[in-house]
Amino acid sequence: MGLMKTGIPGLDEVFKGGILEGSSVLVTGAPGTGKTIFALQFIAEGLRNKEPCLYITSEESAASLRRYAKEIGAEIEKHEDGLLQIYEQDLTSRKILSLEEPLNAIKTRGIKRIVLDSLTLFEYVYYESKIDFRKGILDFIKHTKKMGSTLLATSEKTNLEIDEIKFSAQDFIFEGLVHLTMIRKGSMFERCIHIPKMRGQDHLLDIFPMSITEKGMVVHTKQIPFSLIEQDVMKSRRK
Ligand SMILES: Nc1ncnc2c1ncn2[C@@H]1O[C@H](COP(=O)(O)OP(=O)(O)OP(=O)(O)O)[C@@H](O)[C@H]1O
Ligand SMILES: [Mg+2]
Repeated sequence: MGLMKTGIPGLDEVFKGGILEGSSVLVTGAPGTGKTIFALQFIAEGLRNKEPCLYITSEESAASLRRYAKEIGAEIEKHEDGLLQIYEQDLTSRKILSLEEPLNAIKTRGIKRIVLDSLTLFEYVYYESKIDFRKGILDFIKHTKKMGSTLLATSEKTNLEIDEIKFSAQDFIFEGLVHLTMIRKGSMFERCIHIPKMRGQDHLLDIFPMSITEKGMVVHTKQIPFSLIEQDVMKSRRK
């Protein structure tokens, strides 16, 4: 299996080439940390490489996703009749939510990249028990792997700071985990990214600063987070 480029400048260096094709990666972080932008750039990279892509969205409507993509320079709309299929699942809908449609698309369309934004959708589909929810995710991952697709899912964390993050059950299920955080320094916040795990693959473990602009997300691999350095200095002074 080869390595798949993420489409995020700097990040493939952290992954030492990209993420393993056919793997499952969870991008997790507090609100506004950049999960949807990450997902959009991952899909935009696939479209640039002429790969069939599927975007399952339960957080935003397909229309707002198209607008959002345009804002960060990732044109996805023009591919919708061909390489890209957006599957919108409204969590407020009274319809019984099901994963049948996206699962069929994965089976029949030779999808290379799948985005699931976010895993909350599974909490609605498998609402009866935590075991059902876990099994549902495991089955979905098994299915996507069998079809040779690479899965990137997003999930929410309630803690913003990296030292305070608590792992949840789903963090253990996925092969790869990416943390998006914001570290406070005085009245400012610095965006950071960290890869705690990527099964079967070597990667950098450092915490890197990243920024989000009208061009999307960029990881600064030659820098270290200034906010963390200052926190560490303060801690050592107190000792
Ligand atoms: N064009 C832009 N230029 C600069 N910053 C932007 C731009 N678009 C978005 N952002 C910043 O990126 C942040 C992250 O956006 P994104 O929607 O990816 O977060 P998210 O983690 O998916 O949030 P949520 O959990 O609410 O879905 C926004 O809150 C905003 O601060
Ligand atoms: Mg989002």
